[in-house]
Amino acid sequence: MANLFPKATNVVLLKAMAVLAVLGGLAPLGVWYYFTPKYSRVGYQPVQPVAFQHDLHVGQLGLDCRHCHSYVEISGQSNFPATQTCMECHQQVQQNNPKLQPVRDSWTTGKPIAWVKIHNVPDYAYFNHSAHVNRGVSCVSCHGKVNEMSVVFQDKSQSMGWCLQCHRNPEEFVRPIAATTPGGKSPIYDLDWTPPPGTSQPELGQKLVKDWKINPPKDCAGCHR
Ligand code: HEC
Ligand code: HEC
Ligand code: HEC
Ligand code: HEC
Ligand code: HEC
Repeated sequence: MANLFPKATNVVLLKAMAVLAVLGGLAPLGVWYYFTPKYSRVGYQPVQPVAFQHDLHVGQLGLDCRHCHSYVEISGQSNFPATQTCMECHQQVQQNNPKLQPVRDSWTTGKPIAWVKIHNVPDYAYFNHSAHVNRGVSCVSCHGKVNEMSVVFQDKSQSMGWCLQCHRNPEEFVRPIAATTPGGKSPIYDLDWTPPPGTSQPELGQKLVKDWKINPPKDCAGCHR
């Protein structure tokens, strides 16, 4: 399934399939195909194997996203943390908390924790984390205020239209990359960052887009490779 339609022309094929589904008396399937992904994914909040809280670990303890999602700026995929990352602290902290039993079990058995993936881009579209994070797009622009979430949910539709909305107006989102906040965090990882007094996002964004020659793909082949 890796390359359902690698070339833009094959998109026509996909559309024809949807039309055929409707004509073939599978109207509900066709309607489902066209309308489901864009709207129903927002708010998706599966039950995770451990009641891990971002608001506690990020919002209160102040951990950087990269402490756990260590690949996000060096790889296309972000990653879920290994059990070892949790055990750095939880070998000492909250040793008897029953909520951490699955973490301790994973540590003794060596079997990874089966985190449920929330955000999903279909195989036929290409997405890369590092290409965004290293170009001034903050986690908050695509995932919302994860630092305030006690249980993570999908905050944005991540539909094609949503990707394009930013690709057409990147100046509304791009941030400086360097550590500029009082806490020493980069505006990419400090989800509460706002432009310094006297500047505004579009103004700052326009400068960054010009300086870095930012030009996100808007053509079909840019994302459907
Ligand atoms: C102490 C480790 C830790 C830190 C720090 C951390 N996370 Fe996570 N993150 C996790 C774990 C564990 C999961 C899987 C369980 C869950 O969804 O809560 C996860 C899941 C996520 C997901 C859902 C991914 C998906 O599609 O399934 C997003 C988005 C996310 N984190 C963003 C962030 C951001 C943004 C930051 C920094 C502001 C951050 N995380 C900091 C451990 C961490
Ligand atoms: C940098 C240290 C650190 C790391 C790394 C860390 N935690 Fe924690 N965690 C804490 C501290 C400190 C607390 C306790 C806060 C308190 O006293 O309420 C805690 C509490 C918890 C709790 C209990 C919350 C409750 O309501 O009782 C769970 C569950 C938990 N962590 C899961 C995880 C998981 C899963 C990971 C790995 C993905 C992880 N933690 C990584 C420091 C850490
Ligand atoms: C430009 C939008 C965008 C930005 C910026 C972004 N993400 Fe994501 N994230 C996504 C999309 C889209 C997916 C689903 C990717 C897939 O299914 O291939 C995702 C998936 C994830 C996952 C699940 C694992 C994976 O790679 O599928 C984690 C964890 C995650 N993001 C964390 C982060 C963190 C932490 C940051 C900030 C450092 C961040 N993301 C920045 C859009 C973004
Ligand atoms: C909030 C803004 C934003 C969102 C949302 C966003 N992008 Fe991007 N995208 C960018 C920026 C900025 C770049 C960097 C352009 C450059 O370097 O010139 C980029 C670059 C890219 C590239 C080219 C990078 C490469 O590795 O070749 C692809 C492909 C891409 N985005 C796909 C997507 C997809 C798919 C989605 C939706 C799931 C998405 N983007 C959502 C801002 C965004
Ligand atoms: C910025 C990246 C991007 C560009 C540019 C882009 N697409 Fe997409 N496209 C996506 C993503 C991401 C999805 C998956 C959306 C989802 O899961 O809801 C998608 C889905 C689709 C689908 C499946 C049906 C649907 O609407 O969900 C078709 C057909 C499609 N694209 C055709 C095109 C064509 C034709 C072009 C050029 C005019 C194009 N795409 C340009 C990112 C892009």
